[in-house]
Amino acid sequence: MNVIDISDISLAKSGVTLQHNLFSQIRSRILNGRWVSGAKLPSTRTMANQLKVSRNTIIQTYDQLVAEGYLVSKPHSGFFVSLTLPDQYLNAPEGKNESALGVDNTPNSGLFAPGVAEFALFPTAQWNRLLQRHSTRISLLGNQDLQGHLPLREALHRYLTSSRSVVCNPNQIIITSGAQQSIAIALLAINSLGNNEKLLVEFPGYRQVVKVLDTFNLDYGLVDVTAERGLNTEYIINQKALGVYLTPSNQYPMGSSIQTEQRLQLINWAQENKSWIIEDDYDSEFQFDSRPLRSMQGLAAESGNANHMVYIGSMSKVMFNALRIGYMVVPEDLVKVCLEIKDALSGDTPSHTQAALAEFIDEGMLVRHIRKMRRRYEQKYHLMKQCITERFGSEWQVVSQGAGLHITVQWQSDVDEHQFSELALSHNIVVRPMNYYEPISHKRSYGSVVLGYGNAPLESIVESVEKLAELYFELKNDNAVDLAE
Ligand SMILES: Cc1ncc(COP(=O)(O)O)c(C=O)c1O
Repeated sequence: MNVIDISDISLAKSGVTLQHNLFSQIRSRILNGRWVSGAKLPSTRTMANQLKVSRNTIIQTYDQLVAEGYLVSKPHSGFFVSLTLPDQYLNAPEGKNESALGVDNTPNSGLFAPGVAEFALFPTAQWNRLLQRHSTRISLLGNQDLQGHLPLREALHRYLTSSRSVVCNPNQIIITSGAQQSIAIALLAINSLGNNEKLLVEFPGYRQVVKVLDTFNLDYGLVDVTAERGLNTEYIINQKALGVYLTPSNQYPMGSSIQTEQRLQLINWAQENKSWIIEDDYDSEFQFDSRPLRSMQGLAAESGNANHMVYIGSMSKVMFNALRIGYMVVPEDLVKVCLEIKDALSGDTPSHTQAALAEFIDEGMLVRHIRKMRRRYEQKYHLMKQCITERFGSEWQVVSQGAGLHITVQWQSDVDEHQFSELALSHNIVVRPMNYYEPISHKRSYGSVVLGYGNAPLESIVESVEKLAELYFELKNDNAVDLAE
């Protein structure tokens, strides 16, 4: 059972009663989306013990939160964050002292926010033990190897060789502060070697890539990805381009994958044109429908053609987003330019987390955690899919494959995806409109949203999908009434 972590609640003296203080703290966590709809609160006894206050104070606080609609009480199971918050309290300024929004005003946390791992099952006690052990090492206090802590590069080398068939040596691995930094370094490095040709990116695609291209004023073109045929690889192999950014194992956000034959065509294209392939392999540990294809980098290396491949990975999905550690594997002659760019952007990477991570991998904890989470995400994926089929019938089509932490759906009706996602947000559910992933305006004959189930509590899925169906059909009916008038 997914129980909320209350370790950040502190009832230090604040001039108000304990009950009022606790009420405000819980309310603000619900309103800013940190405690997602459907999540279970600790029992009144556990909460009282942890906060060292009387159980009576907790019972009265919970009762007040139930009375005001923030919590629901379920007989014999406990207290849960309400699925539908009272409208008059939404967007209440009180307690909004931290942002759940990205700089582009799109919620990046909350129920069904895409790209978020399940935090409640992460082995925080083991992780903290490793962090503590390394935090006392004097040798880790000064500036470190810009390329990354060698034991971590060695551990990642073993992990990538066995799990993703990546072919490299530890000196080709650069540790970064997440895939985001790897993408920026890769694009800038490739551009610096360039011949004024464009970089190609997937459309729709990972928005963070276009942010880098725009920030550094790099020229780019778009390659279509559709539900029917996935990435238009034919378009790429008929282009002259400096390089292409791809999510070949689970296209983000359409959820398609590039099959081996097309992978080989792209590798040949890169060889013939001296173009680059940036492979973002952000979540391929989680594939449920079929065995994951090995990395494109490994496939290219098999025929001696990996000298134009940049492989990017992240710990955000397999561990947790806030770790901010990623890595890139580049050909040996690209290491120097990548390090110069990394040096200019950020300098070296925090040392203690790198050392702890190296041990986390070497002790087998990463692989164990991934195994556990694969089962968990698979369970959530199937439940989501089943609920969508039951509640939406043929109205919604699931277009993404069984993989990763999100489901992408499409519909043909005139329900506007933005209106739908705003309505869902007013009920504390984050559904991301497809348009978010489209850097240029684009007329489509269908609506589409992305639903992240990674951090959605398993026990909230049925009720939340039901709520989405209620909201969707409400909008559809309203549109039909408007048309009839
Ligand atoms: C396509 C893609 N690549 C990479 C990442 C991970 O990025 P980072 O390591 O910067 O958290 C994500 C996260 O959502 C993603 O969607």
